[in-house]
Amino acid sequence: MYKKVKETSEYLNKSFNNESIHSAIILGSGMGGFEDKFEKIYSLDYSDIPNFIKPSVEGHTGNLSLVKFGERLTAIFSGRAHFYEGYDINEIVLPTRVIADLGIKNLIITNAAGGVSKNYQPGDIINIKDHINLTGNNPLIGSNLDELGPRFPDMSNVYNKELRDLAKQISKDLFEYKEGIYAWFTGPTYETPSEVNFAKIIGADLVGMSTVPEAIVANHAGIKVSAFSLVTNLAAGISKDPLSHDEVIEIANKSKDKLQSFMEKFLIEINLTN
Ligand code: HPA
Repeated sequence: MYKKVKETSEYLNKSFNNESIHSAIILGSGMGGFEDKFEKIYSLDYSDIPNFIKPSVEGHTGNLSLVKFGERLTAIFSGRAHFYEGYDINEIVLPTRVIADLGIKNLIITNAAGGVSKNYQPGDIINIKDHINLTGNNPLIGSNLDELGPRFPDMSNVYNKELRDLAKQISKDLFEYKEGIYAWFTGPTYETPSEVNFAKIIGADLVGMSTVPEAIVANHAGIKVSAFSLVTNLAAGISKDPLSHDEVIEIANKSKDKLQSFMEKFLIEINLTN
């Protein structure tokens, strides 16, 4: 597995002229196309990057670009592979391991999620403050690479508090700042109303099918993680209506501008100060 990570990061270092990269962002549904708003210093299609998976889900473009925010570079990973697509968990987190191997210190992850908390409405942007892994999967299962991080990593502060405080400050003029706890289900089925109720009882505010594997791997490697959910629907049973991917895409597209304006400001600040 580490051999593949090395092969990919060597390819990227060569393609990017060994430029130093300060932060990375993995874009989920609703953020696709964010990279097109900026001048790309470099741009690669996932299909040209060794060991990368071309995403198959609508709203995920499959492109890696380097863009300058403030004085430093950010790697924008537009699109991700999901566990429900049938890949091995190690393939899902390969981009995150590459981010660690490239020496990138800050990672932002975005996703679309179902709202469980009664304080959320479709279109809300929620800063994830913690997660609950309900899948029984963990990307760190297997032999530990001690050079990356410890066998039994602490998970008390996966979603960096300083970055959460920064996000709160930056969101001020853009949207009402909210935090929440994200429960990871594998999908591809949406949850049943009883599963959503269970998630609620054990403390979840959001349900979704991504982000947690990447956050676990980044935290293990000592990267500062920040993650945002775009609430595209009220979760099953909370909403009276059946859920559909079309609805998720529609709401994601409507809220895109708000999230993207925030993200541009957030990245500039992260690249300045962290
Ligand atoms: N559940 C899981 N994943 C999701 C949802 C949901 O309700 N909405 C968007 N992604």
